[in-house]
Amino acid sequence: MKNFSEPVLDIRNITQTYQNRSGHASKALADIDLCLFNGEILGIVGESGAGKSSLARLICGIETPLKGSVLYKNKPVHDMPVKTRAKTVQMVFQNPRSALDPGMTIDQNLGEVIDIHNIEEKQILEALSEVGMDASCLEKKPSSLSGGQLQRIVLARALLLKPAVLIADEPVSSLDVSIQAQILNLLKNLKQTHFEGMIFISHDMAVVRFLCSRIAVLQEGYIQEIAPTDVLINNSVHPYTKSLLAAAKWETSDSINMNFEDIVIDPLSHLVEIDKDHWVRTS
Ligand SMILES: Nc1ncnc2c1ncn2[C@@H]1O[C@H](COP(=O)(O)OP(=O)(O)O)[C@@H](O)[C@H]1O
Ligand SMILES: [Mg+2]
Repeated sequence: MKNFSEPVLDIRNITQTYQNRSGHASKALADIDLCLFNGEILGIVGESGAGKSSLARLICGIETPLKGSVLYKNKPVHDMPVKTRAKTVQMVFQNPRSALDPGMTIDQNLGEVIDIHNIEEKQILEALSEVGMDASCLEKKPSSLSGGQLQRIVLARALLLKPAVLIADEPVSSLDVSIQAQILNLLKNLKQTHFEGMIFISHDMAVVRFLCSRIAVLQEGYIQEIAPTDVLINNSVHPYTKSLLAAAKWETSDSINMNFEDIVIDPLSHLVEIDKDHWVRTS
């Protein structure tokens, strides 16, 4: 994708297949081409099963793609030593309870990162304060803290490594609606001060609209449309984007009722730039 600046992350032709129950390989991601530019929050939106979490795992290097590569400033993320990779891309998942060991205190949960990366006590307190927590949580077990507090702690753990990029995969989906806005605002502020860029993944168009400067729409492993947020919201072209917008929780001027199943993907289609920075999959 063209842009005036060099990308922070360059995701090139990522294709991934998984074995389905009958033992056949099924394509979860098809030729994903995406760039994350300096200073932006890039949203990836799509329904459950679209391939969002698979893409997140591949970008972080937790998983290796069948085809393609992810470059951080021209260096392949997959080839980095684990410690370097941890300082390049960090990931925050949907459920903070499964990201922390329930049998250990928060202090012990942070311990592994602290030991491996030689982090000082002062930095822990700083990271906790950045996410609106303090030292009083350190002696507690995860079960005595709320989901919102735990997600803050998971974010603090990511901050300790000072990663260049944060990938947040549905980070508010498991939280009470009343807490979601607090965490979204926190992510927005952290991006400005701590990260070169952020990829924010959600099934919820309203949430990506709030947080992201650019949005990529993923359907069954294919990117159908990418555009700056206001363009995607007001001038979407692809029927799948339109149906996601129509299903979103706010009123749109031209709400349409469409079955997602009606939208058949042509595997030979490709993304075409129809306007500046506005790409749409076309046969
Ligand atoms: N490790 C795996 N093994 C087999 N199938 C997988 C695996 N991971 C993901 N899939 C399949 O890939 C597709 C995309 O899944 P996922 O990336 O979790 O989607 P999303 O996060 O958008 O809900 C689904 O059909 C899912 O069943
Ligand atoms: Mg997912």
